[in-house]
This record gives sequence, C-alpha cells and structure tokens, in this order.
Amino acid sequence: MVKKKTCVFISGKGSNLKNLIIRSRDNIFPVKISLIICNNKKAYGVNYAKKYKIPYIIVNTSARLYENKILFYLKKYKISFICLAGYMRIISKNLIKHYQKKIINIHPSLLPKFKGLNTFSRMIKNDEIKAGCTVHYVNEKLDSGSTIIQKPFYINQNDDEKTLKTKTQKLEYKALPESIIKIFRNT
Ligand code: GRF
Repeated sequence: MVKKKTCVFISGKGSNLKNLIIRSRDNIFPVKISLIICNNKKAYGVNYAKKYKIPYIIVNTSARLYENKILFYLKKYKISFICLAGYMRIISKNLIKHYQKKIINIHPSLLPKFKGLNTFSRMIKNDEIKAGCTVHYVNEKLDSGSTIIQKPFYINQNDDEKTLKTKTQKLEYKALPESIIKIFRNT
C-alpha cells in the first residue's frame, strides 16, 4: 500500500498530531505524516515534529501572501491530504480549491451544534445533554463540511469545561484515525 503524503496543520498543543504520528507508523495505516504546518512558533506541538523528525514550517498568518508559502511547501512535499488538528485559522478558498474533499478537520462538538470557539462553555450554559467530537470535510464555511465520523458522550451533572475537554479529546484520538481509515478504505 502506498501511503498518502499528509500534512497536519496545528496551532497549539498538538496532542491529536502526536496521536496521528504514532498511528501512522502502523504499516496498514493509509497515511504518512510528511509535513507539519504551524502558525504559532510557540506551539507545543512543534516539539512532535522535532521529536519524530518530520519536516515542519512555521507560517506567519499575518504576513501578506502567507498562503502562497503554504501552497509552495504542500507542493514541494507532494502532499495529497490535509488534516486540520487544532489549527486556529480559517483556510482560504484558494487552498480549498486546490484540495477539494482532501481536507478534514476535527472539532470538539457534535456539529452542526456549537460551531466555532468556546464550545464547552457554551454547552454548559445551554444545559446540553450530550457532547462529543466531529471529524468533517472542510469547505468554505466554518465547521460546515460533511461529517465523516461523530463520537458522542453524555454530559454528567458535575462535568465542567475541563472534564468536558478531557473526555472529548479522548474520543478525538479515536475519531481522527478512524476517519482517515474510513476515507481511504476503498482506495
Ligand atoms: C482539539 O480539541 C480539536 O477538536 C480542536 O482543537 C483541539 C486541538 O487539540 N479543533 P490538540 O492541539 O490536538 O491537543
């Protein structure tokens, strides 16, 4: 099996990235993490690029034409699949056009509920019964592309933002690799 050359975009802690790197070392996992793009030079997740010796680039998203730099490196590393894992920037139409149905994102809520930021505080305020995570394709609208996998759990009365985040992330570590396997199952 030829593994798809994949780029993971991050902005912060990178725990999903770490999980994916480890999963992708499995011979039968369909992708190889060939490049990491980060828009925050202080992001902890960059350490995983260094530790696992994966090429990475830091982009300054306030620079004009920074997406040209991204496109240049995606091409250079022959990237055919993109995973957004905690990347806190909207992807441009141009990049989406280049990678139609080839970009996925992991979001910490049961979409279409709670698009955007601060999902856990909004869930608590709203007295939600369930929380969870969603892996979806990326399109031009924020957190709106079609769902690949969703994993729910019931919220306990004593859950707070911190416990919701921990429980959600535990599910994310399953949902993201499972989604990738599902996408490439028949290829
Ligand atoms: C995840 O919870 C993901 O749902 C959201 O950002 C978080 C990233 O966490 N989009 P990490 O950087 O992978 O630890």
